[in-house]
Amino acid sequence: MPLIKTPEEIKKLKRGGAILSQTLRKVMDNCKVGVSTEELEKIVRQEFEKVGGKPSFLGYKISPRDPAYPCALCISINDEVVHGMSLPGRIIKEGDIVGLDIGLWYEGMATDMASTVVVGEVGPEIHGLVEATKESLKRGLSVVKEGANVEDIGVAIEEFISPKGYGIVRDLSGHGVGHAVHEAPSIPNYKERRAQKFALQEGMILAIEPMITLGTWKIKIKDDGWTIVTEDGSPAAHFEVTVAVTKDGYELITPWP
Ligand code: MF3
Ligand code: CO
Repeated sequence: MPLIKTPEEIKKLKRGGAILSQTLRKVMDNCKVGVSTEELEKIVRQEFEKVGGKPSFLGYKISPRDPAYPCALCISINDEVVHGMSLPGRIIKEGDIVGLDIGLWYEGMATDMASTVVVGEVGPEIHGLVEATKESLKRGLSVVKEGANVEDIGVAIEEFISPKGYGIVRDLSGHGVGHAVHEAPSIPNYKERRAQKFALQEGMILAIEPMITLGTWKIKIKDDGWTIVTEDGSPAAHFEVTVAVTKDGYELITPWP
């Protein structure tokens, strides 16, 4: 499928992106002490159903041999980086740092976004991590425009994050999106040589998503086959938006929630 989307497709993406952002806002507002992750999952499914949309993560497989992802909403708590699950027994607790990530199929087009919230009282180092991760996404976005290289995004994120001593997850990246949940290009959140030669063009749709830790960049996957956690057990934060590349910048497809 073409990486450059037509103006008509971009209109569809924006309608989907607006719904996605409103849904994420609703989940964030309900992410409180004592709520079960299953209840938050229900909110997502209901909101999408109301408008005739479909959760894009539910049943998703990264490769054909993988288990299908069982939820509409990825909830990643504390040392979980991404792809944590929304299950009945998982209850949000005081002091948790919670990544909320959703994807939507709407009018045939896919959008993707994520935010991290803190629940109740957390220390200044956690607030620092969350704020820096969100700011790093803005730094990455600031270099997006036609003619820029995918590599410029990772360089901007790394230049902001590395001096703070945080870890930048290296084994997972942002990605193109629109006709599929994951499309080319892969968008590393650090300077990566393989990304160098991919020039951005107007009409490309990108999901940029820095994953930042209070420890090292190293991650591992849990036995459930999906949940990604930091290897050193340190907390992690994750923010993501979908944007359309324009001649002199970008347009937000998923408004900030
Ligand atoms: N935003 C995440 C990503 O792009 C969501 C993945 S969907 C899942 O990797 F189904 F793989 F969980
Ligand atoms: Co994504």
